[in-house]
Amino acid sequence: MTVEATPPATSSTEPKFYYPPQALVENSNIMAYAREKGFDNVDDLYVWTIEHAEQFWSEMATRYLDWFQPWDQVLDASEAPFYKWFTGGKTNIVHNAVDRHANGANRDKVAIIFESEQGETTNYTYAELAREVNRFANVLKAQGVQQGDRVTIYLSRVPQLLFAMLAVTKIGAMHSVVYGGFSTDALHSRIMDAQSKVLITGDGGWMNNKIVELKKITDEAVERSEGVVETVIVFKRTDHDVPMKAGRDLWWHELEAQPGMDEPCATEQMDAEDPLFMLYTSGTTGSPKGLVHTCGGYQVQVAATLSFVFDIKPDDIYWCAADPGWITGHSYIVYGPLILGATEVIYEGAPSYPSPARWWSIVEKYKVSILYTAPTAIRGLMRYGEEHPTKHDLSSLRLLGSVGEPINPEAWRWYHRVIGHGNCPIMDTWWQTETGAFMITPNPTTPLKPGSGTKPFLGIECDVLNEEGLPASESDDGLLVIKKPWPSMLRTIYGDPKRYVQQYWTRLPGFYTAGDAARKDADGYYWVIGRIDDVIKVSGYRLGTAEVESALVSHPAVAEAAAIGLPHEVKGNAIHTYVILRQGYEGSDALADELRKHVGKELGPIARPETVSFVPGLPKTRSGKIMRRVLKARALGLPEGDLSTLEA
Ligand code: WTA
Repeated sequence: MTVEATPPATSSTEPKFYYPPQALVENSNIMAYAREKGFDNVDDLYVWTIEHAEQFWSEMATRYLDWFQPWDQVLDASEAPFYKWFTGGKTNIVHNAVDRHANGANRDKVAIIFESEQGETTNYTYAELAREVNRFANVLKAQGVQQGDRVTIYLSRVPQLLFAMLAVTKIGAMHSVVYGGFSTDALHSRIMDAQSKVLITGDGGWMNNKIVELKKITDEAVERSEGVVETVIVFKRTDHDVPMKAGRDLWWHELEAQPGMDEPCATEQMDAEDPLFMLYTSGTTGSPKGLVHTCGGYQVQVAATLSFVFDIKPDDIYWCAADPGWITGHSYIVYGPLILGATEVIYEGAPSYPSPARWWSIVEKYKVSILYTAPTAIRGLMRYGEEHPTKHDLSSLRLLGSVGEPINPEAWRWYHRVIGHGNCPIMDTWWQTETGAFMITPNPTTPLKPGSGTKPFLGIECDVLNEEGLPASESDDGLLVIKKPWPSMLRTIYGDPKRYVQQYWTRLPGFYTAGDAARKDADGYYWVIGRIDDVIKVSGYRLGTAEVESALVSHPAVAEAAAIGLPHEVKGNAIHTYVILRQGYEGSDALADELRKHVGKELGPIARPETVSFVPGLPKTRSGKIMRRVLKARALGLPEGDLSTLEA
């Protein structure tokens, strides 16, 4: 099995488990629920949730959410693997995340603390948030957006990104958020697949004190999209000059100033299985997949996991430092914390601007109590040394989190010791864009092992199986599978239900295969090793080798290309590419540099390859498939493995 990384070595001098503080365990939300159910520990509660999965999820649905109309059936498996949850139920995620707070006790509670890269703070209470969402929902309606329409959102990390997403779902349309670090080609292909008539962007965004040219990239992507996009709504953030195309481009603030925009806008009553949003992710082919999540089950699992894992309490200051443009941001910046009525921090800019102490100053300034980030960020900040965090008072922190890729034990221990002052458990949450919410994760009662996501969440059944579908032994890697449907699962791939079945449900029939290799140890703890498919995790971002290759081939000098991921100290993996040039071109450092930049321009800076090597040929199977694992083994000086299918 080819994987992106090797499992962490365990050292005999380290403690086997890191135990959580007893007070945290005793006062945790998950223990409160365990006690309600008559258990004195979470392991016993877990067993009960597996035996009573539907009852468990329906209890979560009423514990955390209001429904306009209750459901008839918790789980409908009659068209598996097209599972349906809470069928017959009527709901709207914006009712739960915004409206009910704005009309209730949380009205004047701060929902969002926004810190700009320049250091200004803007707070939005739940009542103010509701006004913003309401107003922008009216704008969208006035622009003709209707239930079921797909609206593409391409913004930087500003509160307006949340307002836009919430406004879209309030009126029953679907958002397709494209991460603001992506470029022309990535945006273009997502617009085309979603066929979005309306696109929301900014004149630019701030990152590292530089303007990210969102509008310029939007213009290029929209031009290429041959009349698909009719309206571009532009939020003014940087206030630098951008061309506005008459009849297509409209300023956000001018639209909001139109008469009637402050009138109440109805929150649509949606069926639980109506689509909520789509989010593109990389897979095995060059075209990204639009994963579809729905209105009911998604919010149930997002709310329950956030409450039980990050243990949100009314006074917590929660900060998920991801970008709302990724699933982590959708579930645990936009929807989860707001459903729970939490106060959260959103920081616009770069972690190291103006110094590598920026994040720690934010923790101190707002007394952040829960910090959720990615291993790559931890490794990046760790490199600058301990003097930056130790200059700041981080004593407000009580829980930490990690997501996106396996966290190496060294980074885990640094995070635990230096940031968490040795008493903040780290919630290493394993999940995917596809799963919508945490699947394998500790909770505040779990004894931790650095580098392991520990065990499945309540109600979730996983396993590690070999290629024959049998449980892998403790010492063996196998395929990570999910054995039963879960409420926040993806429902399909937008416009391609066959691909949904083929991609996720055929490798080991009856099980959802996650695309990850993993190992389960003698304590039942899961160790995710890495991807088995042609996906590379760069700084926790998910990129397809095929996307990088097709960006390279779009350059006139390139005949053929292969991309692989190789270990990188900070990014986890870095992209290395091999290129066969067209006749008439010759490899040079200048051309290699040009190709790296070309990929950066087409897909986004995160996809820019680390190296471009010019080669006369590529190892291929007889059927013409590039054998990336051979390239990888060669690059790492490892045995090349079974070459029987290699082209002679
Ligand atoms: C990887 C991100 C190890 C994994 C939420 C998965 C992880 C892919 C972890 C999904 C973790 C995510 N430990 N690996 N805690 N979290 N992964 O769709 O390979 O961007 O399949 O969702 O990230 O990436 P995605």
